Amino acid sequence: MADAPIGVAVLISGRGSNMQALVEQARDYSVVLVASDRPDAPGLAWAADRGMATFALSPKGIGKPAYEAAMLNRIANSGAEVIALAGYMRLLTSSFITTMRGNIVNIHPSLLPLYKGLDTHARALAAGDAEAGCSVHLVTPELDAGRVIGQSRVPVMPGDTPDALAARVLVAEHQLYPRIVSEFCRRMNDLLSHVRAVALQLPGVAEPEPGRFTVADRAFARIQGGELWLVDDRVVLSDDPDWQLVEDRVARAWELTAPSGLLEAGGR
Ligand code: GRF
Repeated sequence: MADAPIGVAVLISGRGSNMQALVEQARDYSVVLVASDRPDAPGLAWAADRGMATFALSPKGIGKPAYEAAMLNRIANSGAEVIALAGYMRLLTSSFITTMRGNIVNIHPSLLPLYKGLDTHARALAAGDAEAGCSVHLVTPELDAGRVIGQSRVPVMPGDTPDALAARVLVAEHQLYPRIVSEFCRRMNDLLSHVRAVALQLPGVAEPEPGRFTVADRAFARIQGGELWLVDDRVVLSDDPDWQLVEDRVARAWELTAPSGLLEAGGR
């Protein structure tokens, strides 16, 4: 299971050119669903024409909780473990983000933390910036504020208009986003297989949902936002993780959580 490509659901509201780049350059992940809050989003037709699974639902008239519940249900059915937002124009609630265990990324057309929100190119030009660019970041309930996991820089040219700059940045977006999503998924797959290898050998351990490990119904390890959260700490992975250390930490988290009967059966 850990070696199968991670399923990614892409959420769009419009033309979906970044979604197309994610589909066409997929490596170490596979786009299993394209979903939208806009049934008329042109990107949906592009995906449906290629035989991809699509889902559209407008929140109008049903309210945000029902809308998000239906969206999450469809995403769960698709098998996606990661969501990539690509021109998706709605804020996600913290309950939606928690349900996806923080495995949600977004692409934003600025060098974050500069220019969160809209009109990024006009704001970069008005500020006289010599460089613009795009960022891939983890999604948190606060707009464009999660940890940046990839960035590309693009020069601002003399006489640039917001549209001209946007077109140049978009080319960089289409290169950056698939590369970072693939790195994120590869890391998640590595992390899942290493944590599973140790966790599922320990007495009484279950994985009730992918990447969440429990003993006697108490969670002791979970993979969230590409990182490992243990009952006693958060493990931030380096570029070249010490997997032995990661596995030791998982075993220790189990020791801190397991009831005494199980500890005697499985202590190291
Ligand atoms: C892109 O500029 C992206 O950075 C921003 O919204 C735009 C979406 O374009 N979040 P597309 O729908 O991917 O073509």
